[in-house]
Amino acid sequence: MSIVILTGAGISAESGLGTFRDEDGLWTKYDLNEVATPEGFARNPALVQDFYNARRANCRGASPNAAHHALGRLVAARPDTVVVTQNVDDLHERGGVTDVIHMHGELFRALCAACDHRWDAPEEMSVSAPCPACGAPATRPDVVWFGEMPYHMERIFDALERATLFVAIGTSGSVYPAAGFVGEARANRVETLELNLEPSDVGGQFDAGRYGPASEIVPLWVDEVLGAR
Ligand code: OAD
Repeated sequence: MSIVILTGAGISAESGLGTFRDEDGLWTKYDLNEVATPEGFARNPALVQDFYNARRANCRGASPNAAHHALGRLVAARPDTVVVTQNVDDLHERGGVTDVIHMHGELFRALCAACDHRWDAPEEMSVSAPCPACGAPATRPDVVWFGEMPYHMERIFDALERATLFVAIGTSGSVYPAAGFVGEARANRVETLELNLEPSDVGGQFDAGRYGPASEIVPLWVDEVLGAR
């Protein structure tokens, strides 16, 4: 069995990182047009840098939970498993998954808006910091904003073609293209499973669903796959 896993903010919720659309989610406190679009960044780069600096600090203080560790165990036992995440945090890596496909980029990487050079993000990023490659004062977080093309799509669609099982964990199914992966998997006759706190916006498209906190349901499912239960 070759498994493709898609994760969203729900897998990191119990690590203390907020989700986006739940009650108390980040998009109930911040205007996504101001902090997560290229236009917002052009209007007020300092506001956007402050938002991501705060998220970077939050993430540094957070630890992977049982769901991240369970996926680490799964990948160690089944190295052909592909983990795709919409999350910009590094909790999968710290949970033992070394090759994570970050389709929405990474909080801990910086990107030069002038020459596309990438490097490790400093703790506090500022737009006036010069790019180490070209010197332009055009530093931005290496995250994908609304209106920008998610990363690694070809690799993801290839993996969805070869998979026998597609599992979505902790994602609301409200942001495309990730919300379309279940449809793509089904078109490829891949079995589909949703693991979430509650049925997502696209929950009806999955062959099966299991609902509860990720820290409980993900380790149980991994144990089943690995034949421990
Ligand atoms: P959302 O905030 O949209 O959805 C989080 C999902 O996690 C919801 O379906 C919750 O029910 C579920 N959830 C919450 N707590 C959970 C828990 N303890 N265990 C399991 N599930 C839980 O987050 P995403 O789907 O990740 O993009 O959002 C997708 C994209 O929208 C993000 O990558 C981000 C955002 O805007 C960009 O910023 C480009």
